[in-house]
Amino acid sequence: MKVAVLGAAGGIGQALSLLLKTQLPAGSDLALYDVAPVVPGVAVDLSHIPTAVNVKGYGADDLASALDSADIVIIPAGMPRKPGMDRADLFNVNAGIIKTLAEGIVANCPKALVGVITNPVNGTVPIVAEVFKKAGTYDANRVFGVTTLDVIRSEAFVAELKGLDVANVKVPVIGGHSGTTILPLLSQVEGVTFTDEEVAALTPRIQNAGTEVVNAKAGGGSATLSMGAAAARFTMSLIKGLQGEDVVDYAYVNVENGDAEYFAHPVRLGKNGVEEILSYGELSAFEQKAKEDMLETLNKDIQEGIDFING
Ligand code: NAI
Repeated sequence: MKVAVLGAAGGIGQALSLLLKTQLPAGSDLALYDVAPVVPGVAVDLSHIPTAVNVKGYGADDLASALDSADIVIIPAGMPRKPGMDRADLFNVNAGIIKTLAEGIVANCPKALVGVITNPVNGTVPIVAEVFKKAGTYDANRVFGVTTLDVIRSEAFVAELKGLDVANVKVPVIGGHSGTTILPLLSQVEGVTFTDEEVAALTPRIQNAGTEVVNAKAGGGSATLSMGAAAARFTMSLIKGLQGEDVVDYAYVNVENGDAEYFAHPVRLGKNGVEEILSYGELSAFEQKAKEDMLETLNKDIQEGIDFING
């Protein structure tokens, strides 16, 4: 198994790479790519951790070697938010980075499963898909927007609010990955009921949790450690699927005849990536309205990504 992390020297990239060094199956290769000159040092640092995962760093000119025959590519490369910015403000900088990296994947590992973390995820995932379509290598089952941070935040906040053991809390989150496009399905949390007031307070807290971190870091970046944990959890789901285990996780994927062209759903993972896009089930009246209200924003974000490649 070879996993490549693109943007591995950044805040998310380093946290994710640390977790993968300790969690990937024995014998795996972990390829760390970044344009920042510190990346070989990050790899040397991690290589001193005694696990049977081979780590190698690749600098700016080495994208092809980093990606060569990778099974999974996870992308946290690009600029994070500063206070006052929303995720859409990142589009102009990050769209070009994602395009270049997607072209590298086409050339070096077109069959890899690709997890996109770089914001705005609503638009960067369509960029990757459009680059792959142009090259004739697109397989909708292999491209994922990583929305796991929304899921783990929901688990943490619900457990905190209700005094539950967080290990037993599961919260479905659907939609996109920005503001009101993030839709936690609190009505489906097993064994827990919420008052209307709790739903009305908790839903925006989950939607704005990223901004909570951005403001608390006061200009020093956005979520990196929780995102590293989320990305590691999602990467391990992809790996279990590749190894033949039956795994269901949430991700922002290309959906035929769905609410939008891309929408976060529960997906069954397997040897080819998405084996099946599962229904998110019944929504409460509150969730149904929130879903309908988000679609204009989400569709606009998606179109911006598509137009960046085709426009
Ligand atoms: P960071 O600034 O700490 O790290 C970004 C890294 O990307 C840097 O090391 C930089 O050198 C590298 N980079 C820039 N251009 C590159 C290129 N062309 N090829 C390879 N590497 C390149 O940023 P951080 O905090 O790690 O965030 C990264 C991205 O993840 C941001 O876009 C941020 O908005 C996004 N993010 C996504 C979340 C999600 O839930 N999907 C949550 C939190 C952040």
